[in-house]
Amino acid sequence: MKNPRLALIGTGGTIAGAASAASVSTDYKPASLSLVAVVDTVPELRQRYDIEVTQPLQLASYDVRPEHWLDLHKAVMLAVHNPEVNGIVVTHGTDTLEETATFLHLSVNTSKPIVLVGAMRPATAYSADGPANLLDACTVAACDTARERGTLVVMNGRIHSGLWVGKRHVSSVDAFDSPLAGALGEVADQAVQWFRAPRRAPSIAWQAPVTWPRVDIAVAYAGVDETAMRTFVSAGAQGIVYAGLGNANMPSAYRTFFQSLPAQGVLVARCARFITGSVSRTSAYADAQHGILTAGPLPPHKVRIILLLGLAHGMDGPAIQRWIDQILLAG
Ligand code: SIN
Repeated sequence: MKNPRLALIGTGGTIAGAASAASVSTDYKPASLSLVAVVDTVPELRQRYDIEVTQPLQLASYDVRPEHWLDLHKAVMLAVHNPEVNGIVVTHGTDTLEETATFLHLSVNTSKPIVLVGAMRPATAYSADGPANLLDACTVAACDTARERGTLVVMNGRIHSGLWVGKRHVSSVDAFDSPLAGALGEVADQAVQWFRAPRRAPSIAWQAPVTWPRVDIAVAYAGVDETAMRTFVSAGAQGIVYAGLGNANMPSAYRTFFQSLPAQGVLVARCARFITGSVSRTSAYADAQHGILTAGPLPPHKVRIILLLGLAHGMDGPAIQRWIDQILLAG
C-alpha cells in the first residue's frame, strides 16, 4: 500500500532551535536548523509517509507579522490544491503559534487536515520535545478522521482546535491547552483518539490583501486612560480590540470615548484581559447601539485576527459581528 503523502511546511521556531549544549533548554537560538534537518532526526517519518518539504519562512515566531502569513498561506494552498497530498503539517515557533493557527483556521477552506506543531525545547536539547511532537503531528495529518476539523494544533500528545488553543506556560512541554473548549483529542504511538465529532468554522472567502489594515490591542489595568487608544487611532488603526477588566469592563471615564470610535470609522471589540469566560453584552456599553463588537470567550489576540481578516476583505462591523457569531456557533 502507498504511504500517505504529507506536505511539511517549515517556518522556524524552537522546534528548529539550537543551543550551545545539550543540557541547555531555555537559552538558544530558534530557527537555526532547516526543516529538512529536523525531519532527518525522526527516521520513521520517511518510512511511514511520503514527505515533501518546503520552507517559506525561517524565523522565530515572535518575529512573525501578518505579512508572513501571506507567504505561509500560499504554501498551504499549494498543498491544499495538490490532489496527491493527504495532509499538511506546519512547523512553527510556539510564541505566536496560536495566532497563525487562528489565521489559517479562518482563512483556508479545505477538508484536508492542516496541523501546526512546535516545540518548547530546542532540537539540540537532551529533552527535545520536537521529534515526538512532529511524529504526532504527522500521524494526525495523515489520519482520515482529522478531515473537516479546520486547522489543528498538536503539542505534547494533545490535539487542539487552532481557534481555541493557547500557550499557557513559558517553558513547560505541557504549555498548550484550550480553556473552556477543551482538547479535541489525543495522539500517542500513532493512534489518534478524538473526543468530538468533526466541525469546521466558516472561513473567509480568501483574497490575499495587498496591505493589511492596522488593528491594535489596548490592554486595560487599574488606572488605564485613553492614551493608548488615541495613539492607535493617530497611527491609523482601523480597528482596536479592547482587552478589558473582568467582563470586558472599562473605567467609566473613558466609555464615551470608546463608544464614539465606530462612528469615527474605527471598529472596536470588547474582550476580556487574560481570563477566560464569555463576555456578555451589557447595558453599560450599549454595544449594539454603538456598533461595538463582542466575541464571547475569544481572547483579544484572536479577535484581532478576525478584525484583520474582516477589514482586509472589506467587511463592515455588522458583517464581522455576524461572522464572529457563526464562528462561535461552530464551536
Ligand atoms: C518562537 O516562538 O519562535 C520561540 C519560542 C518557541 O518556539 O517555543
